[in-house]
Amino acid sequence: MVFKEMDRISELPDELLVKILLFVPTKVAVSTSILSKRWEYLWMWLPKLEYGYRRCSEPESAKLQCFLDRNMPLHRAPVIESFRLELCNLNSKPESIKMWVLTAVSHCLRELDILHESYPAKPNILPSNLYTCKSLVILKLDGDILLDVPRMVSLPSLKTLKLQSVRYLNDATLQRLLSNCPILEDLVVQLRDYGDTLKKLTVVAPALQSLSLFIPYNHELNEYVIETPSLKYFKFVDYSDYDHYGLIENMPYLTEAYVDCCCPDIYSLVNSITSVKSLTICSEAILNGLVFDQLEHLEVCLCTVLSSNQLVRLLNATSKLKRLDISLMDDHDPHQDMDHWNEPSTVPECLLSSLQRFSWSTYTEKPQERAILGYILKHAVYLKTATIKSSESDVRKHEMMIEELALSSRASTTCQLMFE
Ligand SMILES: *[C@@H]1O[C@H](CO)[C@@H](O)[C@H](O)[C@H]1NC(C)=O
Repeated sequence: MVFKEMDRISELPDELLVKILLFVPTKVAVSTSILSKRWEYLWMWLPKLEYGYRRCSEPESAKLQCFLDRNMPLHRAPVIESFRLELCNLNSKPESIKMWVLTAVSHCLRELDILHESYPAKPNILPSNLYTCKSLVILKLDGDILLDVPRMVSLPSLKTLKLQSVRYLNDATLQRLLSNCPILEDLVVQLRDYGDTLKKLTVVAPALQSLSLFIPYNHELNEYVIETPSLKYFKFVDYSDYDHYGLIENMPYLTEAYVDCCCPDIYSLVNSITSVKSLTICSEAILNGLVFDQLEHLEVCLCTVLSSNQLVRLLNATSKLKRLDISLMDDHDPHQDMDHWNEPSTVPECLLSSLQRFSWSTYTEKPQERAILGYILKHAVYLKTATIKSSESDVRKHEMMIEELALSSRASTTCQLMFE
């Protein structure tokens, strides 16, 4: 029966069979080569290749290395749409990886995605031809990969660049790469947790639209400079407790920002993002005298809602705010000893004129939290909905909270209270 089906499938033209092979993992596609003479080379026309996986065993990775050494040079697809490698072992040879990538590059490679974990760190695994690949649109590198950008570099088609925990040859490496990617739109840079020698991070990219930067705790960075005037989305996470200086140039087209940093001096940052419509923020920095006059959606992390009356400071800085969310950012812990809520003497303007939607996704019913919630309900004149997601598991207590809130005084008689 199976053979009959096989016969029927084998009547299809090669192009169609290759398309069918695209629906299965590369490993399975390759295994069809034993079916018959006809199938032997079919998989070599595959335009998408994906090899290896996290936590594969040493014998498996040795086998993969052998396989790729033998077969990559025989690959026949005129265009390789994507080449993905996950290499997490000690024995892949840098020369081999270079050769595989080189082969992919020579087949009009459009997307390269490499995860490489090795200890001790390997020297360069990227061939210098990669940096002049005209067809490359997406480049994602993660792990122990040294970026050693040659003098001659040109990536005219590159739109997306994601660099996670890679090593940079020196402080100029990243910028040399960026300067030669004229249409780059989307950049993610996550610095290494440990063993990084980078002291100055420079991102100058005139066409960039989306930028995410992550500086981990303990990173000994001295300085960062960001000049991205076309940016629309900016995510900035800076946990480094090392004294560092930052310069961020104005971003007049920015509409959305995500800011999570502990450094107290974030004026340069905050002043360059004042045009945003949507802001997610977790920062204890004292933000006096700020104006976010376009802001419509504000999400404040619960960890800092109360520190130095941060919530009021932020509300004070807005006048068009329509939506306010209090939540807890990924991997954040709310402080156990929250400050007291100091009821502001003047009600923030946005509560009186614009706020329509409010949500609290991590409500724990601490007295300070109840005070904030009560205050918002009491003063937000145009509130349409208030959505509360409580973490109280005790049904009785939960019901009491709902009753209490239902009876609380509300400035907006049409406000709908919702519980999740
Ligand atoms: C908010 O604004 C009011 C009125 O301008 C001011 O009195 C108050 O101190 C401000 N609150 C904070 C925490 O900045």
